[in-house]
Amino acid sequence: MFHLHRRSLIQGGSLLVPALWAGRASPLLAAQTAPATRARLNVTENPFGPSPAARKAIMACVPEAPYYVEDEHTLRDKIGQNENLEREKVALSNGSLDALSLLSSDIGRKGHLLAPQPTYATHLNYAQRRGVTVRYVPLLNHAIDLDALRQAITPETAMVYLCNPNNPTGNMLDHDKLLSFCEDVSKKVPVVVDEAYFELLPPAELMTASSLVHSGHDVIVARTFSKVYGLAGLRIGYILAQPNRVKQLYSLTTTSRNQAGYAAAMASLGDKAYLNGAIAYLKSCRNMIYDICQKNGLSFLQSHGTFVYVNTQRPAEKMKTALAQRGVDIRVFDAPAYQTWIRVGTATPAELELFGRALPAALQDVPKA
Ligand SMILES: Cc1ncc(COP(=O)(O)O)c(C=O)c1O
Repeated sequence: MFHLHRRSLIQGGSLLVPALWAGRASPLLAAQTAPATRARLNVTENPFGPSPAARKAIMACVPEAPYYVEDEHTLRDKIGQNENLEREKVALSNGSLDALSLLSSDIGRKGHLLAPQPTYATHLNYAQRRGVTVRYVPLLNHAIDLDALRQAITPETAMVYLCNPNNPTGNMLDHDKLLSFCEDVSKKVPVVVDEAYFELLPPAELMTASSLVHSGHDVIVARTFSKVYGLAGLRIGYILAQPNRVKQLYSLTTTSRNQAGYAAAMASLGDKAYLNGAIAYLKSCRNMIYDICQKNGLSFLQSHGTFVYVNTQRPAEKMKTALAQRGVDIRVFDAPAYQTWIRVGTATPAELELFGRALPAALQDVPKA
């Protein structure tokens, strides 16, 4: 039932998208659909959906469907040109999660992985299930504590993972501090910088760690077409890294890219007009979440991502259940200092309205911690 609503918005996207491009109608007004019966705020997707060029490319690649993608050089080169990096420093993966999981579990055979907490940890959990040890360093004032991470590095550390902006807090690292941390630490161990929400950042080109890949450091920048490009279901992402890391990832990869994801990524990479529309949409959704929290007297962190971290002042797991009973799914992160916090993902305005209606009753249901 819920999927019908979401998909009807996406199918209606051809009407919605041009209005956004022209910077005319409010994306939220344009996107109003029937009320949602379930709100999928536990994931970070972009229902604004693929760009018009990506939609066309997906349709046009149907004749290629019987064939494997054998040559991914063209997209690697296109990404490389954007980043001023040669093809040997670019690898594609099936969503960035695939690259993150494969590299974390392989590098983790040499020692433990180090990461802030809370952070995006799906790939770290994957590595852990394969026998890798993961050590976590708490945030300081909701920010990744680079000094504490530096101090936590031992000869047994095999890799450091950073997420910028961090998921779930939406916090950005100070760019100079990030670069100097990566420059130093990558002399000893590889540093992964997960830039899944990179395109949303105020001038994105100035916020990336890719310059360190250019200058030869063992830094692995992970990016994705899932978030701002609206292609989560087509599973396509990439890393920027030293040629030996690119080779390492390709040696671990079990399967090739899919035709539709490849075609859509080729068609949408760097499409500024589309990105402006998608970013406006996502920011409007984020503002809607802020408004709902403010109306309910809840504090939250200003976010650079497609999600907002909210302090409910109540046990987060209980809030999760109370919201789920009212059709709203949210996510809770495993972190001792954030037991009352929930992460609310951007979604369609109809889904966010359902959240707005469900929240007061859920707050009533769950006594304060
Ligand atoms: C920070 C971060 N990195 C990576 C991913 C993985 O996304 P994908 O595999 O779709 O590229 C996500 C998805 O939620 C994420 O939030």
